Amino acid sequence: MTMARTAERAISPVDVSDIALYTEDRWREPFAMLRQDMPVSWCPDSPYGGYWSVVTHDLIQEVELNHAVFSSSWDNGNIVIADPPPQSNLPNFIAADPPVHTDQRKVIAPAFNPSQMAAQEKVVKQRTRELFDALPAGETFDWVEQVSIPLTIGMLCILFDFPWEERHDLKRWSDYGSNVSPETATEEYRAEWMAQMGQMLARFDEEFAKRRAMPPTDDLLSRMVHSQAMGNLNPMERLANIALLIVGGNDTTRNSMSGFVEATNLYPAELDRLRADRSLIPNAAQEIIRWQSPVTHMRRTAVSDTVLGGQPIAKGEKVIMWYISGNRDERVFADAERFDVGRDNARRHVAFGHGIHRCVGARLAEIQLATLIEEIVERGIRVEMQGPPERLPSPFLHGFVHMPVRMVAA
Ligand code: HEM
Repeated sequence: MTMARTAERAISPVDVSDIALYTEDRWREPFAMLRQDMPVSWCPDSPYGGYWSVVTHDLIQEVELNHAVFSSSWDNGNIVIADPPPQSNLPNFIAADPPVHTDQRKVIAPAFNPSQMAAQEKVVKQRTRELFDALPAGETFDWVEQVSIPLTIGMLCILFDFPWEERHDLKRWSDYGSNVSPETATEEYRAEWMAQMGQMLARFDEEFAKRRAMPPTDDLLSRMVHSQAMGNLNPMERLANIALLIVGGNDTTRNSMSGFVEATNLYPAELDRLRADRSLIPNAAQEIIRWQSPVTHMRRTAVSDTVLGGQPIAKGEKVIMWYISGNRDERVFADAERFDVGRDNARRHVAFGHGIHRCVGARLAEIQLATLIEEIVERGIRVEMQGPPERLPSPFLHGFVHMPVRMVAA
């Protein structure tokens, strides 16, 4: 027996992967209890098997920085609490360790640099304005369907230089790519998943072929085909990296946009503050990402026996970094539950992760969110929720299925 298996473990009294905690919005208390009593704890039994929970801001960062022990590529890359069915892992760079990760990330990252993003900001602004012009005034509508989804997909179309008419395909592929709830582990779902992913790859391969035939540019897809590290990926690797970019950008930004509406309904004075001082808007974008934490967790797997926060972790065990909890850590964020657009350390949130895998699209997401907030402020409106939202049944994505709202004068 290893050292790790013999030592006593702190056993969590609650399974924080339980979907009901998120659909019923009851996750705050269990995480507060874990942060207080057991920052690292073992949950022996869950729909996803046994797993470690890491719930404080400092220990989450410790795991992120120790990628030699806490691996992203274990068993071909399992990076969320649910293990994919055998042989269906997506071999993309988020599910890789150095040096593969380093080489592939280097290809992608410059497409998100500040000058590239500045060019996209104008188009994002224009699309946001057009979308608001077309929203039903004085009627109840679904914010998720009519604002968060189209704006986020629009952002991805801009990023990939993809025709707007094909946005529904991007959305469908993203939804298939990101669904990790246990109900999806059926043969039927798997077959449909394969079909959808095949369609997606075929469509992107057309775009890759176009870029390959032209001289290299700074465009994201062009960078990929013309690079050493990503120019000759096999079909599964191409598919995996496209899925990563689509899924990575989609649900995350979408649910932050919806989170902003919930936050400003719970804390209406924060919208007044933004109206009085627009220079707070970029910080408000950071704060909503902290407050919403649309990615509840990422997972690593220990490649050797180790100790974290005094707890013995054995080789092969799942280690879940609960960002949603780290972002409520009172030792870092005073009055952490409060949505505070002037919070001076909002940027310290771990919603984008930390270390070598920290979100490559962070700047794009911030621009899209700041643009949305600016639009609401400039129009002098308030988005009022007309009933409780329907929340996503997922242990991985923290967000909304539907949110009935009405726009009123502020
Ligand atoms: C990685 C969150 C938007 C693309 C990540 C990670 C998180 C995250 C938690 C993993 C970090 C880690 O393991 O340490 C978010 C949130 C977003 C957002 C909260 C919006 C509010 C975007 C956008 C894109 C994107 C807009 C691109 C279109 C990626 C990619 C990675 C990544 C490619 C992999 C980076 C790597 O492994 O090196 N993101 N993301 N994300 N994200 Fe985002």
